[in-house]
Amino acid sequence: MASEEFQEVRVFAPATVANVACGYDVLGFAIDQPGDEVVVRLASEPGLRITKITGDEGKLPLIAEKNTAGIAALDFLNHLEKSDLGVEMEIHKKMPFGSGLGSSAASAVAGVYAMNVLLGEPLSKKELLPFAMSGEASADGAWHADNVGPCLLGGIIFIRDNETLDLASLPVPENLWAAVVHPDIEILTKVARDILPREISLPNVTRQVGNLGGLICGLLQNDYGLISRSIHDVVAEPARRQLIPGFAEAKKAALDAGALGFSISGAGPSVFALCEGEEVAQKAGAAITEIFGGLSLGHQLYLSRVNQRGVTVMN
Ligand code: HSE
Repeated sequence: MASEEFQEVRVFAPATVANVACGYDVLGFAIDQPGDEVVVRLASEPGLRITKITGDEGKLPLIAEKNTAGIAALDFLNHLEKSDLGVEMEIHKKMPFGSGLGSSAASAVAGVYAMNVLLGEPLSKKELLPFAMSGEASADGAWHADNVGPCLLGGIIFIRDNETLDLASLPVPENLWAAVVHPDIEILTKVARDILPREISLPNVTRQVGNLGGLICGLLQNDYGLISRSIHDVVAEPARRQLIPGFAEAKKAALDAGALGFSISGAGPSVFALCEGEEVAQKAGAAITEIFGGLSLGHQLYLSRVNQRGVTVMN
């Protein structure tokens, strides 16, 4: 696409489910909704200016150098030696902070991808990964691509090594659905990371590695039984579930409703049930929301296949 075709670009970056139970910091998938939107347009005044942010309750900085989407976009412009380019950016937050849905990753990905399209796509989506990562790391303080990877590229992404961003896209079984439920509480990722054990026992390392390998094999072989047997987390979930009211009951309800597995989405408080088919996902979603509703906890339910497109242009 030639740059002159795009004076204004609007993009959508989807929410993501990181960890997927047994893949702490190394596995994640994208869903269809919710997601953040970013608009960029060329402007005569040099430099990147954030002119509008909606949906953030005034929490996000308008200063580009301090804003997740702005940092990702600026890093990218610096790389291209175009930091003087005049650009205006609008950010429309469409998902809550501290939700476990990859909110900061979505903003970072949307910021850098919109800029890439505005400039006529000089880089591939995969080449945008480091810039989106620096945007997200500015919000989260940690360097893990399990939200940014699937948000950018779509699908289910396995990260062999976060430092070098060596990642692989896994096949998505056709009838795989997710019921993702966000209960209306906020858990800061930093808090949810600080609560994790510093050391893991050797038997638990063996269990976690076995389950991660099993889940990947299950996806490769379209084997729902193997997927189901592998969705267990002995590392993060045991430490984090106490932060989510009704977690044990919601898990039992989802599994009783036929879900293949259930765990925390990213750092929480959102939870997810992976399911074979839409009907089971609907039942599992209803069962989870009933538990949160019974605790008078507001919540949002998202039913989705795995989103295979990742970030997309809307206009
Ligand atoms: N893998 C990360 C965590 C995801 O569990 O802390 C949170 O963004």
